[in-house]
Amino acid sequence: MSFWLIFGGVIVVGYLLLRRFAIVGKSCTSKARLDGKTVIVTGANTGIGKETAKDMARRGARVILACRDTSKADKAAQEIRQDTGSTNIVVHKLNLASLQSVRDFSQKILDEENRLDILINNAGIMMCPQWETEDGFEMQMGTNHLGPFLLTNLFLDLIKKSAPSRIVNVSSTAHSLFTPAGGIDFDDINCKKSYDPMAAYGKSKLANILFTRALAKRLKGTGVTTYSLHPGSIQTDLQRTAADQYFWAPLLFNKFTYAFFFKTPTQGAQTSIFCAVDESVANSSGKYYDAVAEAQPSKLAQDDNAAMRLWEISEEMVGLKK
Ligand SMILES: NC(=O)c1ccc[n+]([C@@H]2O[C@H](COP(=O)([O-])OP(=O)(O)OC[C@H]3O[C@@H](n4cnc5c(N)ncnc54)[C@H](OP(=O)(O)O)[C@@H]3O)[C@@H](O)[C@H]2O)c1
Ligand SMILES: *[C@@H]1O[C@H](CO)[C@@H](O)[C@H](O)[C@H]1NC(C)=O
Ligand SMILES: *[C@@H]1O[C@H](CO)[C@@H](O)[C@H](O)[C@H]1NC(C)=O
Repeated sequence: MSFWLIFGGVIVVGYLLLRRFAIVGKSCTSKARLDGKTVIVTGANTGIGKETAKDMARRGARVILACRDTSKADKAAQEIRQDTGSTNIVVHKLNLASLQSVRDFSQKILDEENRLDILINNAGIMMCPQWETEDGFEMQMGTNHLGPFLLTNLFLDLIKKSAPSRIVNVSSTAHSLFTPAGGIDFDDINCKKSYDPMAAYGKSKLANILFTRALAKRLKGTGVTTYSLHPGSIQTDLQRTAADQYFWAPLLFNKFTYAFFFKTPTQGAQTSIFCAVDESVANSSGKYYDAVAEAQPSKLAQDDNAAMRLWEISEEMVGLKK
């Protein structure tokens, strides 16, 4: 009897410690205010994007929700207004799987806004079937990397003008866990020869980190700093397309595992918020973060040659090459 009592106690205490330190983790403690500043959060109609946007609004920023589903985004905007009391929340349409939509969105912002202090590239898609974007790119590389690549480049002048300013990229630990040993296959970037939903997600997230490094170099001395991060494992809708791809996906992502082993969206937004506002990282650029602290990304993610190659290919693919 007493053995089982002790055994049970150890399990419970062990789980509570795990929950506190490994699952929930730290929060961003910065009290920084963002009055008079403008923030764009992509994919802000749900998940950690919505929570990040809410936090930015609470700090006084003008927040632009850049979303492909604007009716869902209008609802999120209403919720953010209600929760924060802010009246400075705007919704604009942005479909990252369409270069035309990226161009239309950025034109609208350049016409209407006179500053951009923080750009949070948060939107993402994970483990979908072999879909293509409007421009014929593999869907995950297109949405998670090429769309944000064009978007970030089109905003660079406005962001530089608003310095000190920050660009934050929500990557994932999948950049190392899911990516095959060879990294990104530059001869088959759209995975036409072989497509694996999980590997394609990993490669697109690896691209985010490579770009953060390349961008940090290009932006040295401009007052613009760049960050990439893993937000943790979070109960969001990200797995929505995974269930049909892998038999184990519903075993990993379900109500039970979410309740016990995943962060809430608010907890999951903390590293994004930290990179966006925390004073302690104001002078750091090009680094990778996890659990509200600097972390080491995979070897592949530190390959500056790959970063350069990817930059050139991306420029060509999105039509930025002059
Ligand atoms: N959840 C996790 O455990 C986890 C772990 C590591 C990294 N991440 C990263 O965290 C970021 C946010 O994900 P989340 O967990 O909050 O997932 P989520 O709830 O699925 O939110 C993703 C957001 O991205 C938007 N989006 C997808 N495709 C888009 C497109 N083509 N154009 C514009 N927006 C698009 C979605 O819009 P719709 O509502 O219109 O679909 C949604 O607002 C992603 O970059 C993801 O890779 C998440
Ligand atoms: C974010 O990722 C996009 C796409 O990978 C890239 O173009 C951009 O330079 C990155 N920015 C930062 C700050 O990492
Ligand atoms: C960042 O640099 C500025 C200007 O050089 C300095 O005033 C500030 O203390 C630095 N912040 C940190 C956290 O190092």
